[in-house]
Amino acid sequence: MLSQNLYQLCKCLFLHNLKLNSVNVARRIHSSSEKRSDSESKEQTGQKCETEELPQNTENSNFGRLHIPVMLEEVVKCLSPQPGQRFLDMTFGAGGHTTALLEKASGITVYALDRDPTAYKIAQQLSEAYPKQIQPLLGQFSQSEALLISSGVEPGTLDGVLLDAGCSSVQFDTPERGFSLQKDGPLDMRMDSDRYPDMPTAADVVNALDQQAIASILRTYGEERHARKIAAAIVQARSIYPITRTQQLASIVAGAFPSSALYARKDLLQRPAHIATKTFQGLRIFVNDELHELFIGLRTAEKFLKPGGRLVALSFHSLEDRIIKRFLHGIDMTEKYNLGSKQKIRQALRNSSRGEGRQESPCGKSNLKWTFIQKKVLTPQAKDIQTNPRGRSAKLRAAIKI
Ligand SMILES: C[S@@+](CC[C@H](N)C(=O)[O-])C[C@H]1O[C@@H](n2cnc3c(N)ncnc32)[C@H](O)[C@@H]1O
Repeated sequence: MLSQNLYQLCKCLFLHNLKLNSVNVARRIHSSSEKRSDSESKEQTGQKCETEELPQNTENSNFGRLHIPVMLEEVVKCLSPQPGQRFLDMTFGAGGHTTALLEKASGITVYALDRDPTAYKIAQQLSEAYPKQIQPLLGQFSQSEALLISSGVEPGTLDGVLLDAGCSSVQFDTPERGFSLQKDGPLDMRMDSDRYPDMPTAADVVNALDQQAIASILRTYGEERHARKIAAAIVQARSIYPITRTQQLASIVAGAFPSSALYARKDLLQRPAHIATKTFQGLRIFVNDELHELFIGLRTAEKFLKPGGRLVALSFHSLEDRIIKRFLHGIDMTEKYNLGSKQKIRQALRNSSRGEGRQESPCGKSNLKWTFIQKKVLTPQAKDIQTNPRGRSAKLRAAIKI
């Protein structure tokens, strides 16, 4: 059992998340399309990724194998790199998007941020292939402002920012990181455990928090409608043995349901998804404070983009997409969910204090701060889903800072 201190830490983290998170904890909405956005199972594929060991040379193809960049064509098109421009890739991962930007035009500079030291090492290696064009930055979105400033980047000066939310295949496919419910490993799920070894792991959360708090995490961050039942099963199981392994947790969750329910849920490709998928998503988001981080990341992107600079944000589940959508439309994150999106956009425009001279577009295409590059959210093409099923739930939103 974990110490009282750790329990308090988890609880503090939980309350901090609830308070700061731009997602309203109590009021969840499910639009019919979002209901099926089973993004957490980005990992539910047979996509192969060797090991966490880094490739020995920096040839692009080697990095590409670690994580297939999602909607690459669309991302590059929306960012529209021009010779000499400067970009921030807030989620460098294995560098697929960064490489494509560097290849698209000459003299591009990319500030390559990631909270994961493994990604940072990949960025360092890749920077050898693109001398002076990649500036690796190790840190979270919430630390990116300070990192950029200390790298000599002034607010309002970047030409483009990419934010490709969530986890990379490098993380999912390394069982020791504890993200995968398919491969057994320690129940960890922290993206930057090397940097913050004292931060709570997913195991700490399931072993230390009370049943109600666990249910709340699963409901809020996993959008798991059986959260109470799963939390009860977790609490019962941990009274016998501490829960320390990913497969152990997957079995405990599965044990709370009849065997027919184990793979009864379907992912976006109508493939069976394990009943514990949403539990894993909820824990991962909570442990990494992902939604709060996302909101801070978007604010930092806006601050460092120049007028005319482009933001591309990729999300993989409805919680992330809702934050991005609201941010770009200027909708208050605490706004009621039951307003239609056009009503919310109109309300955001009405609420704006800088009302003079603004242009209200009837289709909500622009607000005060952003012009949308395309009217509708982009999703992956069928051919991309075929080659990279992990990216199937992606939603791309792109906008130009006014
Ligand atoms: C989906 S992957 C990005 C993949 C990348 N675009 C590529 O082409 O390889 C997301 C990456 O963002 C990083 N990440 C997630 N949340 C972060 C945060 N709050 N701050 C910094 N990096 C974060 C993860 O560590 C992960 O490497």
